[in-house]
Amino acid sequence: MRVFLALTLVLLLAQLSCGEYYGVRLAGGSGSVGRLEMRSSANFLGQWLPVCDDDSFRSTQSTRREYPRIMCQLLGYPYGRHTYLDELIYRPGDASLSRPVKINFCSAKASSEGGRHLLGRLGEGSDAGGSSLVEGDRRQLYSPIVGTIDAAPDAPYECQIQSGLCDKTGPLVALECSHTLLPELPRPPVRPVPGPTSAWGSGSVRLMGGVGQYWLGMVGIQGVMSFRVEPNLCNYKNIGDCLYGRVEIEVPAPGGGNGTVWAPLCAPPPDVSAFDLARLMCRQLLGLRPTSSVDYISGASTPFDIPQGPVTTEGHFNPAKYAAWANIMGGTISLVAAVQDLSLNVTSSPCADGKLFAAMCSRFGR
Ligand SMILES: *[C@@H]1O[C@H](CO)[C@@H](O)[C@H](O)[C@H]1NC(C)=O
Ligand SMILES: *[C@@H]1O[C@H](CO)[C@@H](O)[C@H](O)[C@H]1NC(C)=O
Repeated sequence: MRVFLALTLVLLLAQLSCGEYYGVRLAGGSGSVGRLEMRSSANFLGQWLPVCDDDSFRSTQSTRREYPRIMCQLLGYPYGRHTYLDELIYRPGDASLSRPVKINFCSAKASSEGGRHLLGRLGEGSDAGGSSLVEGDRRQLYSPIVGTIDAAPDAPYECQIQSGLCDKTGPLVALECSHTLLPELPRPPVRPVPGPTSAWGSGSVRLMGGVGQYWLGMVGIQGVMSFRVEPNLCNYKNIGDCLYGRVEIEVPAPGGGNGTVWAPLCAPPPDVSAFDLARLMCRQLLGLRPTSSVDYISGASTPFDIPQGPVTTEGHFNPAKYAAWANIMGGTISLVAAVQDLSLNVTSSPCADGKLFAAMCSRFGR
């Protein structure tokens, strides 16, 4: 019995010594094949998290090409390559379970042959941070959720991870580790993500005023929007007032022209949830899909009253400047990807009930 226990312990330790011991594991497969997962005690509550299979892992011009091998070395194998089994790289069922991460960089631990050697950080620029769109960028307040994986002191590499920007349903990184060098496998085409799509993208909606950090598309431009909605819509007296903005959407130009015009979005009718509408607007604004891995906060508030009579003060909201107004008539928010795909009545006179939609949208970290 004792021998058995001792043997079990030795086997357990042997297993731990490569693999989970280094904050890296292969899951969902068997043996040396599986979906790559990483863990850091510093963030995400120490969960095991899958890894986005995007440029952050496989950029061709860089040492990111080495990541499969490095991950496999942390798992106790000298070699590794990508593998593309559907059941490993796609997970349509449990996408809500965890948010994928990306690797910021891996650095070889200092050794007798030389100092630290950064892999995948220098000369790439992609992690240098987005440019600030407005003065007074408060990125510090919303620092990205970054953590170093729970590697043992004797791990050959140390890797930093942070929340990735990819689809939670996949494709995710899956690896095959090996004791012999294996040729790379061709990457299959990325499957289209199921769900609604739209001809109207993130550039066809804008939030005017309101406080919040936002993210433009997938390119990584981020900034803090801290201007307020016009004072004749919301009377700003204290910090914390007027946190909601008004929304404008692009609509086909009235009169059947070819172009589009910006139309203020009216408050939705009672049978359309303002909160769902805010969520849709925010996702569209941020260029996200329902299954995107990014966290964002959206909200709706008491609608703004459209000022009556002529507006002459500079910087005030002037209804006379708008040729089109977007009135929502109905539609099922869960079935569309853009506000424009709801049932709209674009009118030339201000919103039928005299009220503008008030919403906020914020993305924390990146
Ligand atoms: C719309 O576009 C078409 C084709 O580009 C062009 O022939 C037509 O004159 C345009 N109409 C207007 C009203 O701009
Ligand atoms: C759209 O709005 C206009 C102006 O308020 C109204 O006359 C028209 O009946 C509306 N159209 C629909 C389909 O409700």
